[in-house]
Amino acid sequence: MENPFVYGKVARGEFFADREEESQELMADIASGQSVIIFSPRRYGKTSLILEVLDRAKSEGFLAVYLDLFKVTSEEGFISAYAKEIAKLQSGGVRSVLRSLRELLPRLIPKVVLKSEKAGVEVEFEFDTRSERAPLLDDLFDAVATIATRRGRRAVVVFDEFQEIADWDGAGNVERQMRSHFQLHQNVSYIFMGSKRHLMQGIFQSKNRPFYRFGKHFALGKIPRDEFGAFILKRFEETGFQISESAVDEILNVTEEHPYYTQLLCHILWDRTREARTVTVHDVSLALQEVFLRESHAFHDMWDMLPLKARQLLVALAREENPQVQIYSSDFLQRHALGSASSVQRAVSRLIIEEILEKFVGGYQFTDIFFKQWIRNEAI
Ligand SMILES: Nc1ncnc2c1ncn2[C@@H]1O[C@H](COP(=O)(O)OP(=O)(O)OP(=O)(O)O)[C@@H](O)[C@H]1O
Ligand SMILES: [Mg+2]
Repeated sequence: MENPFVYGKVARGEFFADREEESQELMADIASGQSVIIFSPRRYGKTSLILEVLDRAKSEGFLAVYLDLFKVTSEEGFISAYAKEIAKLQSGGVRSVLRSLRELLPRLIPKVVLKSEKAGVEVEFEFDTRSERAPLLDDLFDAVATIATRRGRRAVVVFDEFQEIADWDGAGNVERQMRSHFQLHQNVSYIFMGSKRHLMQGIFQSKNRPFYRFGKHFALGKIPRDEFGAFILKRFEETGFQISESAVDEILNVTEEHPYYTQLLCHILWDRTREARTVTVHDVSLALQEVFLRESHAFHDMWDMLPLKARQLLVALAREENPQVQIYSSDFLQRHALGSASSVQRAVSRLIIEEILEKFVGGYQFTDIFFKQWIRNEAI
């Protein structure tokens, strides 16, 4: 039988815990043409949520485009990748698809590629890379709105890992041109997401950047405890397991309801108890020990490279109950014998660069919940 918990890949369908409220809010934004910028710490479930929402939007008649910029490394790559996603909006016979693509994107050369028997054909694009870029980008950035207008429908376009654009668009030409078109489209909602918070903030919260104040900011939090608890219980029960309420509680305590780490712990728990098919609080702590064992090399290495002040701060944070604690307050500094606020500030900068800590809604939190638990467990 297949393990009912997934981690490290997008959670879809029955693997997805509902997030009904967030989905409804995003659906309402899409319906009204509102553009949205989604922020969250790493692995909170942005991609999983948006793909579920796009499915829903499609079933309600919206045109939907999803582009992940993670693997895009150049402007040329971006043009081909976005055009390829736009081409997927076209239906009908190959000839008519090509005809309308040539008309919409006259500076690109569409090519039909047979992917496999099952996947069918896809359209890919080539273009003269020496040609003037601006007119080509004009066509590209208007294409979705044009298709939507012609069909009398609304559209939603998602750019995932949008912060990556800065890597190859250093001068900001693409960003500027994008904004100048997108702001005119009343029938398209543009959604931008990214997991590198400081880079996303740079794009959307700096006055001198084109996308300053472009859309509504949406901070995606954890999955609410009761919803996540119900999901865990259901997934265990559906596969013939018994799990006590206190064990579900313990899972969520250990993982602090972090979507990714919760799924990871549940995955291990399910595997470990597949003979007995009964899960107790004790099993949860055994599963956590297994995580520590698996990760011990990585955790040791991480610890090893950190200066003393950073370690002291991590120990203090790992022991702290209040996630929104003011770490520069004299109370916190004294309680944990951390010395001056400026030395703690330096430690924080280092820990953020190393992606060990991240800033979110007013506080600092561990990126890796299990590293936090490990420190709590091991540090003296
Ligand atoms: N709604 C959900 N229900 C169940 N599990 C979820 C949900 N959302 C996220 N997860 C868990 O979190 C993991 C990460 O999800 P996802 O890749 O969607 O997050 P992300 O925020 O896009 O991550 P990244 O910061 O790496 O882009 C999934 O593999 C899954 O284990
Ligand atoms: Mg993602």
